Amino acid sequence: MKGIILAGGNGTRLMPLTAVTNKSLLPVYDRPMIYYPLQMMAEAGIEEVLVVTGGANCGEMMRVLKDGNQFGLSRLYFTVQEKAGGISQALALAEQFAHGEKTFVVLGDNLVFGGNVAGAVREFAKYSEGAKVFLKRVPDPERFGIVGISDGRIESIEEKPKAPQSNLAVTGLYLYDATVFDKIRQLKPSARGELEVTDLNRLYLDDGQLGFAMLDGQWIDAGTFDSLAEASEMAQQAADTVPLAVAA
Ligand code: G1P
Repeated sequence: MKGIILAGGNGTRLMPLTAVTNKSLLPVYDRPMIYYPLQMMAEAGIEEVLVVTGGANCGEMMRVLKDGNQFGLSRLYFTVQEKAGGISQALALAEQFAHGEKTFVVLGDNLVFGGNVAGAVREFAKYSEGAKVFLKRVPDPERFGIVGISDGRIESIEEKPKAPQSNLAVTGLYLYDATVFDKIRQLKPSARGELEVTDLNRLYLDDGQLGFAMLDGQWIDAGTFDSLAEASEMAQQAADTVPLAVAA
């Protein structure tokens, strides 16, 4: 199974911090943001990871992360998303890298502390087909992809709904089988001109192949000033209880 971290985009919501460097390199407590998803990949037993980066400072990413050995990965690869064309468009750049294997895709600003991710990833790698998303209850569902669930199955999925059906957010951690790239080719740009990850997940849903797990650790999308500050607090508390494995 291959790991893919999507860390492109211009990070406009975090200007002027993102005038200094790429969003995923901004500090979260004692290390750059992208260290957390990389560590999560390593803990899930993933050996090869592709970082899709972009923006004015994308070269910084290689300088900081090097070959990935510091995270216990055997190899780290990089590619550049030239324009912010959406999560699915960034993922499409990983097709050759994935080489027909299943993928664990994580957004570079999604941080998880504790919980069941590693186990779910290993299980998906061995036994599952289709796609699987990780869900978390949130107080502000209009900010996220939101699912409706009935009889223990996902029955609808919507991106940033104005009238949310539930408070179950789709976090930025996704497990896909090898059909994901063919599905991306079927997508059309959304109203904001992007290939949306929610539209990709809906194709799996239409095929009856979108599974889910509730994420039982702490999770945060650190893409705004408030959530970035909160992420640092979470990381500090997590470091007090469970020392983070990666050397800062
Ligand atoms: C993206 C996805 C959204 C998901 C969120 C998780 O939104 O489009 O479906 O719930 O990540 O962090 P963004 O944060 O890019 O607006």
